[in-house]
Amino acid sequence: MTPQVSLALNAICPYFTMFPLEFPLSILARRAASSDWVLDPFSGRGTTNYAARLLGAPSIGIDSSPVAVALTEAKLVNATPAAITACADNILDQSAPLRDVPRGEFWSRAFDPAVLQVICRIRESLLANCRSAARKALRAIVMGALHGPRTLSVPSYLSNQCTRTYAPKPRYAVRFWQARKLVPPRINVSEVIRLRAERYYSSQPPGKGIVVCGDSRESSTFHLLGNRRARWIVTSPPYYGMRTYIPDQWLRNWFLGGPSEVEYSNNLQLAHGSPGSFSQQLCSVWANLATVATPDAWLIVRFGGITDRKAVPLKILRDSFDGSPWVLTTVKPAGSSDSGKRQAIHFGTTQNPAKTEHDGWARLR
Ligand SMILES: C[S@@+](CC[C@H](N)C(=O)[O-])C[C@H]1O[C@@H](n2cnc3c(N)ncnc32)[C@H](O)[C@@H]1O
Repeated sequence: MTPQVSLALNAICPYFTMFPLEFPLSILARRAASSDWVLDPFSGRGTTNYAARLLGAPSIGIDSSPVAVALTEAKLVNATPAAITACADNILDQSAPLRDVPRGEFWSRAFDPAVLQVICRIRESLLANCRSAARKALRAIVMGALHGPRTLSVPSYLSNQCTRTYAPKPRYAVRFWQARKLVPPRINVSEVIRLRAERYYSSQPPGKGIVVCGDSRESSTFHLLGNRRARWIVTSPPYYGMRTYIPDQWLRNWFLGGPSEVEYSNNLQLAHGSPGSFSQQLCSVWANLATVATPDAWLIVRFGGITDRKAVPLKILRDSFDGSPWVLTTVKPAGSSDSGKRQAIHFGTTQNPAKTEHDGWARLR
């Protein structure tokens, strides 16, 4: 990695239970060649893909959440700040009537009306066409800016006071804003985009790879990878009990064309019925990975749990390898993550922090 490369792109948009960049980066920097394909079948915000990019390696991301897929794509596109800003300005120069501006108490308290119009104009344009690198980067920039805390200095978020990592539930948010008499700020959206484009897309090394929106339990998802073969698979499945990736991202999901209310369906997400069935689903993913891995590939899995479940995450992880084409050779404790909790306190709510995490290393049998 050249010293002038900025790591800022990794933070373009937060994501619940994302792992730190250092985790995949330190493994890949020590062990991968720049010609090795890197794969993450639960790519989330694309941390593994970005680590691969920093090292010049091509990568594949797979996730069943459209939010995760859009963020992973943004980690791989080659866009310049000037192209992204010009793309936003072009969109905002249009004056065609908007087709779809959400209404209701939540929306009028969450965003200033003029700001909401601008967000909707960008949304409609990107829904019609999000093929270019600049458009993909712009999409992730707006997703990252959509909701977050208000700051006294230069505004960076488009909403009234909110959490960054997950979207607030409308009824709770309305009560929160009402009780504190918080009104949504009138933000210069173009300026926020310009500043963020500079922050995230200056000095990035070239990105290369593909991102697939699909269910990693299904073998058909992996057919989309063609003849690409991964030598490094660094991943983190949903922690057992963490079933709210879609509802917690409902505002960003709306920006991507989803409904303007909380989306509770967990389509294509791992099911959390019992620890045993969860291990079996992971086992299917591991089996699919074997079909797209080189014979000397490593599968490295960070796994933990959330505190309101009695299940033992380490047992789920070990059981998931029973009958799989991979042998778990090493398991190491990886500490624990409570960043979601810290954020939640900021907004007056609590979310369950992660239990201790472990890293499992596996090789093909
Ligand atoms: C722990 S997060 C991954 C976070 C990622 N390591 C990062 O740093 O951002 C787990 C991801 O698995 C995805 N997921 C859940 N079920 C899935 C499935 N059946 N197929 C593909 N992805 C799935 C979720 O949408 C979520 O993005």
